[in-house]
Amino acid sequence: MSHWLIVGAGRGIGLEAARQLSARGERVTASVRSAAGLAALEAAAPQATPLQFDVRDAAAISAAAAQVADPIDMLIANAGAYGPQRQSSTDMDFDGALDLLSVNALGPLRVVQAFLPYVKRSAHPRIVLMTSRLGSMSLDGTFNVAYRASKAGLNKIAQCLADDLRPEGIIVVALSPGRVRTDMGGPNATLHVRDSVAGIIRTVESLTLADTRRYLDYRGEDLPW
Ligand SMILES: NC(=O)c1ccc[n+]([C@@H]2O[C@H](COP(=O)([O-])OP(=O)(O)OC[C@H]3O[C@@H](n4cnc5c(N)ncnc54)[C@H](OP(=O)(O)O)[C@@H]3O)[C@@H](O)[C@H]2O)c1
Repeated sequence: MSHWLIVGAGRGIGLEAARQLSARGERVTASVRSAAGLAALEAAAPQATPLQFDVRDAAAISAAAAQVADPIDMLIANAGAYGPQRQSSTDMDFDGALDLLSVNALGPLRVVQAFLPYVKRSAHPRIVLMTSRLGSMSLDGTFNVAYRASKAGLNKIAQCLADDLRPEGIIVVALSPGRVRTDMGGPNATLHVRDSVAGIIRTVESLTLADTRRYLDYRGEDLPW
């Protein structure tokens, strides 16, 4: 049995990950940030240990980390947002874009830094930063500039973190879940959340240190940075 920390588990991909892992008998600690998220988590994964924080709030993350007692084997930094309505290169909501960078690019790093002491105590530690294909510098298209920039920033953070933690045997990857039918992905996305999450779990479990610093999709296939 492994100990998984799933961040952003009140709905969507994080909630389904907590559900599937708990159902399989894994040890799950999962974070939400609202009463509604907590209720959804308790209904879907009653055995999971809940934490509550917003990934923009370093003090709240530290307080939550202080409640954890055991090594964390898999840290899935999944919480993310899509950002403001106006986010084109010619018409940007700058306050909204800054907030999105704090959630999508820096939020995962705040979480990793706070929980790193527990990750270091695992025998086979893995850190997954949930990114997007839209964070790729080689993908064309100009819609959702703030979201793309936030995930491109997260990809760079994933590379740096992987290089810094490799000597300690900690695997770090940037992982895209595919286009998933959640609140964020919308009803026309190609993947059922159950299938994306099953693929993510399989991929994370198969990682070795040789995989660190990869940019992967939910099937474990490489994406172009
Ligand atoms: N769905 C897709 O097609 C798709 C594609 C590529 C990448 N992704 C990425 O996959 C991850 C999960 O997406 P999803 O589809 O499950 O999205 P979702 O259904 O919109 O759920 C987003 C999750 O992130 C949490 N969250 C948002 N802002 C937060 C904050 N400031 N602090 C803490 N938690 C926060 C939400 O909590 P609340 O319920 O409290 O808001 C919710 O649990 C995201 O990083 C997203 O960028 C998704």
